[in-house]
Amino acid sequence: MRKIKIFDTTLRDGEQSPGFTMTLDEKIKFGMQLEKLNVDVIEAGFAASNEKDLKAIQEISKNVTSPIITSLARCVKDDIDKAYESLKYAKKKRIHVFIATSDIHMKDKLHMSKEEVLVRVRKMVSYAKSLCDDIEFSLEDATRTNIDFMVKVISVAIESGASTINIPDTVGYITPDEYKNIIRCIKSNVKNIDKVTLSTHCHNDLGLATSNTLSAIEEGVNQVECTVNGIGERAGNAALEEIVMALKVRNDYYNADTNINIKEIINSSKMLVDITKSPVQNNKPVVGSNAFIQSSGIHVDGILKNPKTYSIFDTKQLGIETDGIVIGVHSGKHTIKYKLDSLNIDYDINKLDKYVLEIKNYLSTNKTITDEKLIEIVNTINKIKKLQIKL
Ligand code: KIV
Ligand code: ZN
Repeated sequence: MRKIKIFDTTLRDGEQSPGFTMTLDEKIKFGMQLEKLNVDVIEAGFAASNEKDLKAIQEISKNVTSPIITSLARCVKDDIDKAYESLKYAKKKRIHVFIATSDIHMKDKLHMSKEEVLVRVRKMVSYAKSLCDDIEFSLEDATRTNIDFMVKVISVAIESGASTINIPDTVGYITPDEYKNIIRCIKSNVKNIDKVTLSTHCHNDLGLATSNTLSAIEEGVNQVECTVNGIGERAGNAALEEIVMALKVRNDYYNADTNINIKEIINSSKMLVDITKSPVQNNKPVVGSNAFIQSSGIHVDGILKNPKTYSIFDTKQLGIETDGIVIGVHSGKHTIKYKLDSLNIDYDINKLDKYVLEIKNYLSTNKTITDEKLIEIVNTINKIKKLQIKL
């Protein structure tokens, strides 16, 4: 079975987007949670972008021992020096160097010709390599880059010492089949490509980040860059939890797995929400509050007969102990009876219709019902019954 390395960039690509910024202490706390989650690489920040990031990378390096810690740098000497400085306490360190390679970025942003970009890549990747053995090189906006030029850039980066080559879909533009073609073309045209780790980094502007990442894995990519809860620039990055669980649940298809401690996925997601005060949508795969919940009569009937009828997850693997059955406006008698049984409360089976009516009445003006409210409804109806008997 292939092992896919998880490169987490929550603290860099995630943290740099509006609404997700963290204090130094929060970055350290989340870095330590990423170690518990057992990611392979933590991109802890972009040292040259500000002093706080440089300090945060240093502090995370002191507190986290098992994953590789990486620091981002443009293809600029000063950035690389700062990245190296930020990693001085890291047990395992990697400098992550990048430059844009698409025509639009080179012409309108960098004002550099293709030749100048090639020279810069050779010079700066070699320089980074002179400081640190583990060098990752990214072609920013790779998916809108001319493929022949991409092959040349990657060849130069490998000759200059890069040991990981990352192919970012920076603007979330590519489709799964096109991404596969790009990877295939790189694999068949770049010399020594089999000596380096190929990596994917997908943004979610068209909602395709997870699909694109999984397509790249099918084409042989062995490192995935992603973030917890899918946070990141604009529509975010590929969500760690979606990719990890897709590989786990569809192991029969992908024949690949990760080192992630999946019992820590929900904790990591909750910690991030807590730190950033940015909740995930209820229906977000794996970490949304509705992700494992069923309430309609037909679904609950199926689930009670065999949980696999309507759920593809073994929720215990994720550390979730509940049965996932909640009462909603579409729940029938069957579900409500099941819930009352599981709450182990004193109820009268002959009054089930009355409970159902009252619960539905409550749900017509409230979106959800808590166990406490349910018990209160049952108790109130029971009391009425007892009062009538007394009279
Ligand atoms: O999206 C992107 O291209 C990036 C690179 C800097 C890796 O985040
Ligand atoms: Zn990115």
